[in-house]
Amino acid sequence: MTAQTSTALACIVLAAGKGTRMKSDLPKVLHPIANEPMVAHVLRAASALNPDRIIVVVGPGQEGVAKAVAPHATVLQPQQLGTADAVKAARGSLGDFDGDVLVLFGDTPLVRPETLSLLVQARRGAGDPAVAVLGMRPTDPAAYGRLVQDEAGGLTKIVEFLDATPEERAIGLCNAGLMAFDGRRLWAILDAIGSANAKGEYYLTDAVAVARAEGHACAVAEGDPADVEGVNSRVELARLEKLMQARLRRQAMLNGATLADPDTVWFSADTVLGRDVTVGQNVVFGPGVVVEDGVTIRPFCHLEGVVVRRDAIIGPYSRLRPGSDIGAGAHVGNFVEVKASTLGNGAKANHLAYVGDADIGEGTNIGAGAITCNYDGTFKYRTQVGRNVFVGTNATLVAPVQVGDGAFIAGGSTITQPVPADALAIGRGRQVVKEGWAAAFAASQKARKAAQKKG
Ligand code: UD1
Ligand code: CA
Repeated sequence: MTAQTSTALACIVLAAGKGTRMKSDLPKVLHPIANEPMVAHVLRAASALNPDRIIVVVGPGQEGVAKAVAPHATVLQPQQLGTADAVKAARGSLGDFDGDVLVLFGDTPLVRPETLSLLVQARRGAGDPAVAVLGMRPTDPAAYGRLVQDEAGGLTKIVEFLDATPEERAIGLCNAGLMAFDGRRLWAILDAIGSANAKGEYYLTDAVAVARAEGHACAVAEGDPADVEGVNSRVELARLEKLMQARLRRQAMLNGATLADPDTVWFSADTVLGRDVTVGQNVVFGPGVVVEDGVTIRPFCHLEGVVVRRDAIIGPYSRLRPGSDIGAGAHVGNFVEVKASTLGNGAKANHLAYVGDADIGEGTNIGAGAITCNYDGTFKYRTQVGRNVFVGTNATLVAPVQVGDGAFIAGGSTITQPVPADALAIGRGRQVVKEGWAAAFAASQKARKAAQKKG
């Protein structure tokens, strides 16, 4: 075989497996890690290598997977006959592609671009191997396939756990599952793979023995087990989530955020924190959060789909929901919920408020217990509050309603009509004072009690 090394690269992501051990109606690769489907993590790592194409292999009825991986191309593996059969499903789509073909699994969400590069380099390395396999030495080799080497350290075959002898099971070097092939030799190798094994499946791992039999070399690149562990059950899903969180926390700190107790802060894969952001204990970042420089997030906050601008102070115990934008230097305090609302620069909602479907102007103060009534049971309406408005305690703003700049809303008011700029609005029962009434009442009660005792 002439070794005209091509730098072209295609990635095939196998995602058609049934994932039986998850015991789930959701396809395994759609189970989330850091709030993104597992397969999305794999695709992000693959994309970082700038491959010429990426093809995802899905099974019948997995339209959800196809939708989640779009715009990446998908091909159908009609029957789940094993990992070699799954790669074959991509054959028509690859046509006469003759670069390197990297095969990844949709259920190894921690895989990093560095690890993928290592494998591709091994394929392009000494001896022009037909196949390069990613090996790893996990602390518990469990049911992983084992890499069998000859005396010279050359890879002779991969044996699946179920098919392995006790001696082979004692091997610590395991198959991480990722493989890189020379695209010109790939299909002949796959065609020669049979299914005479414990599961009766076409194992991709047999590619090594087949390649060796055809006189080709096979290479191993060793990766960090933490990068390539797979998810087969929900127990492993939870374990990998923790590993991913540890990575995201570390990255946030290296990027200049202070985490008071990193182990208690939970990120989404897409969380963006600026410099000098301080995050207190027990803070959860759902999807779509951007936090600008200098923001302080105090303990026990939940944020999702929100932009928090420079130097704002959030929490403790704040809930920021999707579609919100918190202005620079704004304060959102304890037991305040903000949904689909904008808070202008320097605005404050410090205690026990609900701000939903509202636009709150710069410098406006939302008092304790103030509520926007944004929902009539069928439709939602917006509330517009101008700049430097004072919204008193327990005010109820019945949307749709507008409050002009500089207005003052008296505590306890129910506001159903527009309030002009600089006006005072009071919408509550008028206070009545009756002098001496309480003392007279107390005296009459006392007399009644005394009469009762006598009788
Ligand atoms: C596989 C390897 C094993 C390795 C382990 C690492 C084989 C035969 N075995 O075992 O050596 O140690 O991964 O995690 O390759 N898939 C399809 N179509 C199929 C079957 C599987 O697309 O017909 C996909 C699955 O969706 C999954 C991936 O291939 O993403 C791996 O399949 P899985 O059944 O999880 O393989 P393991 O038993 O974990
Ligand atoms: Ca697996």
